[in-house]
Amino acid sequence: MIGVCVIGSGRAGMIHGRNFAGKLRGARLEALCDPNKEALNQAADELGVEKRYADLQQVLEDQAVDAVVVVTPTVFHRDIVIKAAQAGKHILCEKPMAMNEQECLDMIEACEENQVKLQIGFMRRFDESFRYAKKRIESGEIGEVVLVKSLTHGPSIPQPWMYDIKKSNGPLAEVSSHDIDALHWYSGSYLSEVYAVAGNYRSPDAVQEYPDFYDNVIMTARCLNGSQGLVDGAQGVLYGYDSRVEILGTKGIIHVGRSNQHSVVSVTQEGISTPFVSSWRTLFLDAYYEEDRCFIDAVVNDTPVEVTGLDGLEAVRVVNAGNRSITERCPVRIERERRTV
Ligand SMILES: NC(=O)c1ccc[n+]([C@@H]2O[C@H](COP(=O)([O-])OP(=O)(O)OC[C@H]3O[C@@H](n4cnc5c(N)ncnc54)[C@H](O)[C@@H]3O)[C@@H](O)[C@H]2O)c1
Repeated sequence: MIGVCVIGSGRAGMIHGRNFAGKLRGARLEALCDPNKEALNQAADELGVEKRYADLQQVLEDQAVDAVVVVTPTVFHRDIVIKAAQAGKHILCEKPMAMNEQECLDMIEACEENQVKLQIGFMRRFDESFRYAKKRIESGEIGEVVLVKSLTHGPSIPQPWMYDIKKSNGPLAEVSSHDIDALHWYSGSYLSEVYAVAGNYRSPDAVQEYPDFYDNVIMTARCLNGSQGLVDGAQGVLYGYDSRVEILGTKGIIHVGRSNQHSVVSVTQEGISTPFVSSWRTLFLDAYYEEDRCFIDAVVNDTPVEVTGLDGLEAVRVVNAGNRSITERCPVRIERERRTV
């Protein structure tokens, strides 16, 4: 049994926490860590966990903790991952992996040096439909991939901590890094150039103090293998959670994603209605479970993880290039002088 500590007991932390506290074979939720005592106790009570750590050091010293899931705000990922690796803990780190390329490289190096697993939280790669689409592409059914279009629209108004793009990396990081990973994964190629256009349409609170803040972004991309990409990201759309991908090939097209919450359609005199997907928490619930299960499998069997630090690094590189493109209003080439594959 792999003893797991979830570090950060907020929205995403609780999804992982519920998985490890539940039926997931081969793992048990050993502890929770969060400096916010109220959040910690509330989460631990719900999950039935006795070990409640406010300080990371306690996690590192706990011999019953074999692996950690890092689900804190992104700015803390680097330091926590490096310390956990040095303490010999295997790591599942939520996306975005870190703030910049150097932080990602430091994390990869620490995990390699200490021979621990490092998996990055692109849970869509574990979603049944996303996986099936990947298999269809690999079968050659649609020929060569020409264009990957990936869209994520979130219903909620952005949190104020995201307003300062220099500190948060903004919606390209927090929302669209899943789409960037979809471009990378489905095209089978790294991205070589991006051009992004962004604006603030729904977040009036940010306008005065943070004129650079955007809640809507489109980004076109050129891939190293010649295929094309398009990311469409929006926050605060209110109508629901919308995540769809289209992969156009030389011989066909694949559509991934659904917008209906249930397979229920109401028909009345007023018309036809079906509830729209409300949250990533419901749409990708099974994908998170599968992600956690595969992470434990990789630890138990000492096999490679499916989403690596290099995948996380790639998305961070593209996020940073995209933000530069928005600021400089021009296409940005993504240089890879340093380690990449
Ligand atoms: N895979 C996904 O689709 C997905 C979805 C949501 C969030 N995330 C990622 O997960 C991370 C957390 O996001 P969230 O929405 O759950 O945030 P959140 O604000 O809901 O929760 C973060 C929690 O971390 C705690 N925390 C802060 N600093 C900490 C530290 N140093 N050590 C331990 N705990 C600390 C906070 O007290 C809070 O309880 C972010 O990197 C985010 O991008 C990923």
